Amino acid sequence: MSDNLLAIDDIADDFKAILEWAIAFKNDEDFSYDFKPLDGMSIGSIYEKPSTRTRVSFETGIHKLGGQPLTLLKGDIQIGKSETIGDTAQVLSRFLDGLTYRCFAHADVEELAEKASVPVINALSDKHHPCQAAADLMTMMEKDPKLNNTRVAWVGDGNNVLHDLMLGCAILGVDCTWAVPEGYEPDEGIVKRAKIIAKETGCRMKQTHNPKKAVKNANIIYTDAFVSMGEEDQVDKMADFDGFQVNMELLEAADEDWAFMHCLPAHRGDEVTDEVMDHKQSIVFDQAENRMWAQMSLVTFFCNKAAWETLAEFLDL
Ligand code: CP
Ligand code: NVA
Repeated sequence: MSDNLLAIDDIADDFKAILEWAIAFKNDEDFSYDFKPLDGMSIGSIYEKPSTRTRVSFETGIHKLGGQPLTLLKGDIQIGKSETIGDTAQVLSRFLDGLTYRCFAHADVEELAEKASVPVINALSDKHHPCQAAADLMTMMEKDPKLNNTRVAWVGDGNNVLHDLMLGCAILGVDCTWAVPEGYEPDEGIVKRAKIIAKETGCRMKQTHNPKKAVKNANIIYTDAFVSMGEEDQVDKMADFDGFQVNMELLEAADEDWAFMHCLPAHRGDEVTDEVMDHKQSIVFDQAENRMWAQMSLVTFFCNKAAWETLAEFLDL
């Protein structure tokens, strides 16, 4: 196991147990009130981009676990201006027990992790969003605990969220099909990694350029913004996503019991309609809440493994 979480396959062997732990913890108030594995610890979170869910779920989750969350906005600390990422990592490691980092280039979180002597969790880079994938697969497990009847279709951009979603599905043996416009395919190296894992777990990873084909027979329909943070100068790309909106017409091709997922923030009227977002089969707000529970499991796993294992044993995971 890696000492850091940069992409979701870093925790492939423990992923299922980490999610089961999160679900059990969420549902048992006795644990959630008394269990303080981060007592006396401080966890710092560096943000180079805005965040609602990641920031608030880390702050509240760390607080609930007895730790002190410290949010460090790029404009307020020296990183990238008068201090390198590596020096920042070494300084912060002297004060803190763990770090999370939301950055632009994935190489930056790799550099922070290489130089830090405390665990580093990627809170979104241009390539990966493992905390999102943890919440996503946790949400699917709540609906279908063994994930035997879960088939995922992604409709949209071949981006960071899709990368960890496909890796997460591959690890847990869930079929995943993604429909992306030509020219917006996911990273080839990551698809290769997902396919190697999927071969071992016995599920299918499939790409198409046809949204209707992707959603056919799928029961989890997932989309994300067509223009991600850091791509604001590429708004012209929106035109290439004609036909990729998740709307009621597209969902007619899916299983009747479809559930709609979105990492949020949603751009209503672009990648998804109001009707789908607000539909009773939309589970986007359960998914958002699960960011906190999944990350509580992850932070405990990385920062106090003994406490995580004790609870896992108690839960019979
Ligand atoms: N899904 C997600 O990461 O949301 P935020 O950008 O608000 O953190
Ligand atoms: N793909 C989006 C995800 C936001 C949570 C982005 O990187 O902006």
